[in-house]
Order: sequence, then structure tokens, then C-alpha cells
Amino acid sequence: MDDIASTQAALTGHPVISATGLFTPDESITNEELVASFNEFVDRHNAAHADAISAGEVEALSHSSVEFIEKASGIKARHVMSKAPILDPDTMGPRLDERPDHETSIMAEIGVIAARQALDRAGRSPEDVDAVLCAASNMQRAYPAMAIEIQQELGIDGFGFDMNVACSSATFGLQTAADYIRAGNAKSVLVVSPEITSGHLNWRDRDSHFIFGDVATAVLVEDSAIAPAEHWDILGTKLKTVFSNNIRNNFGFLNRAHPESEGAADKLFVQEGRKVFKEVVPLVAQMILDEADRLKVDAAGLRRMWLHQANAGMNRLIAQRVLGHEANEDESPTVLDTYGNTSSAGSIIAFHLNSDDLVDGDTGLICSFGAGYSAGAVFVRKVA
Ligand code: COA
Repeated sequence: MDDIASTQAALTGHPVISATGLFTPDESITNEELVASFNEFVDRHNAAHADAISAGEVEALSHSSVEFIEKASGIKARHVMSKAPILDPDTMGPRLDERPDHETSIMAEIGVIAARQALDRAGRSPEDVDAVLCAASNMQRAYPAMAIEIQQELGIDGFGFDMNVACSSATFGLQTAADYIRAGNAKSVLVVSPEITSGHLNWRDRDSHFIFGDVATAVLVEDSAIAPAEHWDILGTKLKTVFSNNIRNNFGFLNRAHPESEGAADKLFVQEGRKVFKEVVPLVAQMILDEADRLKVDAAGLRRMWLHQANAGMNRLIAQRVLGHEANEDESPTVLDTYGNTSSAGSIIAFHLNSDDLVDGDTGLICSFGAGYSAGAVFVRKVA
């Protein structure tokens, strides 16, 4: 090795997960509460349009049901930042006051809570961190970046930027952070995912009104040279995108000003859930198997899979294809029942709440999938 090559080798690092953090909103909505409010909205709508409905000019809306929601998705409740207006049949959406510019924004606020927890658990102070990635499926403003606001709140000297890869934002953030460490451009990176998904859910849409919940997660990715003794070695990461129109949100700065766009359903989350289910399961299972093969990891021997939390049936099928048998709760834990789909944060919540019991040498997989389509796999091994 010449001098430049050996200096370069000394600078490059090996990425690990040092710790994670989680912020859970206090308020939660059960399926029973959600369906009661939705059905009241339906009854009011049908009564208000009774004549037009009987004349065949307006379609009558149908009731939602608790049984359907649980059977189709596995979701029983979801945490939210603003419960009362979501359940009010006249509002049916969160109402979070816009804050003045000198106050911390709500996404940054909950992101900071999760980030501080990750730092505390790693025994790290903000001065040790080099970069903040705010990786989430929607940002509350265009700029300045939420990540830079989080950086400022924590007192981090470095850089930050926002990134959005829908439900795969966190795993794409993990690979990006890992790459900074592999390249020697950073030693400690926070990947923060504040997901206020209640703001882009159409609470009046029977097909999807039960899907999402709010949360914030943080993952501290560091060079193994500075990591705490107990950490998660990142064995390898794989990202994949394939264009699909089956999950869309057309909200954007070019259409917001048009009066006909106001309140339009396509400016919120909309999906062809059946097609998503059918197309994404094989794509994700194959990506995991290919990457395990490349890393020489025995997929069937994975100790635990922390899968994206969108649908219990999808997770059952993916885990079955990867492990070769039906996964139990210990092999593929669920947080979907109490958190709902929290977009990119789902697999990180599953990891945060269900990883302390693993022992040195245990290998697991953090995996996300969603709009784009996008999918991300992060293979990790416990070091303790
Ligand atoms: N209450 C009662 N019935 C409902 C209902 C509700 N809230 N919503 C839909 N239904 C009805 C439909 O009208 C349909 O009735 P029909 O058979 O008489 O036409 C029936 O239930 C089946 O609807 P469908 O939309 O095909 O349900 P599904 O079994 O596909 O489940 C999802 C819906 C959304 C839960 C499921 O498709 C899913 O989770 N897909 C993957 C989504 C995903 O991962 N997205 C990523 C987002 S990041």
C-alpha cells in the first residue's frame, strides 16, 4: 500500500447500529372508536344526499367494520398526535396548529425526542455526531430541512438533510448513513424518522382510513471503532426501487395553489391495496434471499426479522418465503396491532422493542417496503 492508500484505509470505517430511540404519542385510537366515527360520517353523508342517492346521481357510502380491518390488516389501534379532530365526523383529520418560525416544528420536536433516547442509550452526546438524516415519507415544509432543525435542536456540529423514500425512508437512510461511515465521511450519523402519517391519510376513505399511525424513531449508525461494546454489526445493506402507480400521494408545491386541488383525494395517500400486496411480497422476498446469498448469510437461519409493518398477511408470506416455514411472533414480531402502519418507522419500532433479548452472534434483518415501489434490507449481527 502506498501512503495515500494506507491513509485512506485508516479513514474508512465499518458501520454498526449503536442504539435506537422511539417516541410514541400518548393518544391512541381503537378500531371501535375509528369505525364509530367513520360510520357516523357515512350516515350523515347519506342522509344529506338522500335525494341524489335515490336519483342515482350520488353513490351511497358504506359502513366500515372492525372485523374487516382486523382480518384484512392485523391493525387493532394506532397512536396519533391529534385524536379528537380525527374522530370528529365534521373534521376527520388532525388539526395541528402551524407554529411560528421561531418555535420548533412538530416533526423536529418528536424527532429530537427519539434522537435523544438513541444518544442516551448509546452513551453518546450530540457533540460526537457528524450528521443527521431526516428520513420520512412526508416533510411538513420544503425548507429549511427538518434534519437541520433537528441538528440545531441537539447542538450537532456537522450537516443534515431530508430524504423521502416513502415507507422505505428509514432503511434508505440506514444505507446512506452506513455509506458515509464506509467512505470515511462520518463516524456517527443519526437517522431520524418522524412519521406524522395521520396528516396524509384520507380518514374518509373506507379502503384505507384504518391504515396509518403516528410515531418517531431514531437510529444511531456509527463506526465500529467508536461504538459502545454492545451494538449491531451492519453485515450488508440492499436497496431496490421499481416504479409503480399503485401507491400515490400527488400533493405538491405545483398543485397546492389550484382551487380544484383543495381537498382532492389524490392529494392524500391512495393505493390499490390488493395489487400492492400481490406485487410487493415476491419482490421483497427475492431481494432478501438474493442479498442473504451475496452476504453468505443463511436466510433460513435468521434469528429474527423486523419487517415493515403494513399488513400482517404480507409479513406472514414474506417471512415464510425467507425462513422456509411459518414464522412465529419471536421470529417476526408485530407492532402493527398497536401502532398501525407507521410508514418508514415500522421496522425500526419492531427492532427497538424486540431486540434486547438477542445474544452475541445472533443475525437478523431490518426490512422495509412501500410506495415507489421501494424496498430496503439491512442485515445485522449482535455484538455483545
Ligand atoms: N370495512 C369493511 N369492508 C371493507 C372496508 C372496510 N373498511 N374496506 C374495504 N372493504 C370491502 C371492500 O369493499 C371489498 O368488498 P367486495 O369484496 O364486496 O368488493 C372487500 O372488503 C375487500 O376489499 P379489498 O380492498 O380487496 O381488501 P383487502 O383484503 O385487499 O385488504 C388492505 C385491504 C389495504 C388491508 C390490503 O390490501 C393491504 O394491506 N395491502 C397492502 C397495503 C400496503 O402494504 N400498502 C403499503 C402502504 S405503505
